[in-house]
Amino acid sequence: MTLARTVDVVPSLLSADFSRLAAELRRVQDGGAEWVTVDAMDGHFVPNLSFGPDLVRAVKRLSPLRVDAHLMVTNPEAAAPWFVKAGADRVIFHLEACPEPEPLLRALRGQGVEAGVAVKPGTPVDGLLPLLAQSDLALVMTVEPGFGGAAFLSAMLPKISALRRALDAGALPCRLQADGGINLETVEAAASAGADVLVAGHGVFGNPDPAAAIRTLRAKAQAAYSGRAG
Ligand code: DX5
Repeated sequence: MTLARTVDVVPSLLSADFSRLAAELRRVQDGGAEWVTVDAMDGHFVPNLSFGPDLVRAVKRLSPLRVDAHLMVTNPEAAAPWFVKAGADRVIFHLEACPEPEPLLRALRGQGVEAGVAVKPGTPVDGLLPLLAQSDLALVMTVEPGFGGAAFLSAMLPKISALRRALDAGALPCRLQADGGINLETVEAAASAGADVLVAGHGVFGNPDPAAAIRTLRAKAQAAYSGRAG
């Protein structure tokens, strides 16, 4: 049975205009966003080098938005405490970089921070299944991670559906996030497959009206998610 859920659309700051960060945050807040994602990339786990914990600190100073720190880094156990200290409300790390994820999940939750685990496109979701009951969020990358604006990989939809089936079978509260290439053309497919958190960078900040983009994305995602069979 699918738990009734309010779908979240979470703008990724990777595509934001950092010359006017405060205004960008206000724009997404006007669109009803409650979270933003900070994509931390170390240039090793993924080809890009992006942000550190100081961006989380700045967002927390500038806005009431909650911050998802998505750690695309080789050493999430070492990096996570920096993001917690900076005020991240949720820290998501990659299974590929953390073969023993339970201690980090426990450590994050023990500090009052939501904990999530992510997989790249080439990683099966099997490794996530035993973690769903001890995680606040599972993330399926729907692009090869590294840069905003990449094309949505529809081949990832069965991974989303498999996780949704497992979450529903266990009536687990863990959220299911799709991240990468989410826009007006792809958001319904991701939500229909069972994602209830949709991360969008270019699909929001690449739009002349990010607030309207968020509202439209959320309306389409909610209808698609709620309209799922079962
Ligand atoms: C990995 C990043 C991006 C970002 C979303 O590359 O995680 O997926 O959040 O960027 P868009 O929505 O532009 O693909």
